[in-house]
Amino acid sequence: MFNRKPHRNKRAVEEPQIDKSRLPVHVAIIMDGNGRWAKQRGVPKVMGHRAGAESLRDVVRYCAETGILILTAYAFSTENWKRPQDEVSNLMGLLVEYLSKEIQELNDNGVRIKSIGQVDGLPSDAYEALMAAEDKTKENKRLTLNLALNYGGRLEILEAVRKLAHEAHEGRLDPASIDESLFASALYTAGIPDPDLLIRPAGEFRLSNFLLWQIAYTELWITPVLWPDFRRSHLEQAIVDYQCRERRFGGRKS
Ligand code: IPE
Ligand code: IPE
Ligand code: MG
Repeated sequence: MFNRKPHRNKRAVEEPQIDKSRLPVHVAIIMDGNGRWAKQRGVPKVMGHRAGAESLRDVVRYCAETGILILTAYAFSTENWKRPQDEVSNLMGLLVEYLSKEIQELNDNGVRIKSIGQVDGLPSDAYEALMAAEDKTKENKRLTLNLALNYGGRLEILEAVRKLAHEAHEGRLDPASIDESLFASALYTAGIPDPDLLIRPAGEFRLSNFLLWQIAYTELWITPVLWPDFRRSHLEQAIVDYQCRERRFGGRKS
């Protein structure tokens, strides 16, 4: 007979062992699958987005507790404006709600909030809430939470190109001096090391315009788990898998 409750090694299944001395410094997450989660349950999409905010809360806590220094979460892309207007306004409303509900705990736990993206293109209440959260948490050092909002990798690269071209045109920059490091310093992520690990829930094998420059050598981890179901245990598994990989950066193991 089919054994519905197979004996499991509880410790091995539920507590993957991470090596705290080799943690990824920067973890990036494409928070995807909220719509499918809601559809599966026959509930409005906004409930999927709301449940996704819970996942972020859990993952942020885990990162702060574990010693991950940077978490970048893709929350709204430059392409997401194509969605129905009520969905966009629900998402913006949830952002304001998330920031106002979480700010105290985030601040108490040493989390610094930063945004990446063309954030001045957000509705003014969302933009103001974001700026206030950045300002309030700017001295925190334990974990930096980068929220990618109105973010597009191609737009980020274009804006950097425009900025550098403008400086060159004004005679303040020698085009020959533009190298990878100077270019990286013109991106939204200036001063932030590239992600070590990129997690994509909801099973799509694509980048959806996220961090195109920065992920050149990032390790990818894709799971069918929908973002609203994603919890610290999934992140822990991703880190265990990451720690089993050999990163070569185009070189050869000595
Ligand atoms: C991610 O969930 C949230 C945003 C893109 C803002 P989706 O809403 O894209 O969920 P699916 O892909 O439809 O399941
Ligand atoms: C990527 O998810 C953007 C965010 C999670 C914010 P999408 O749902 O927009 O990506 P596609 O359309 O499936 O590529
Ligand atoms: Mg999606």
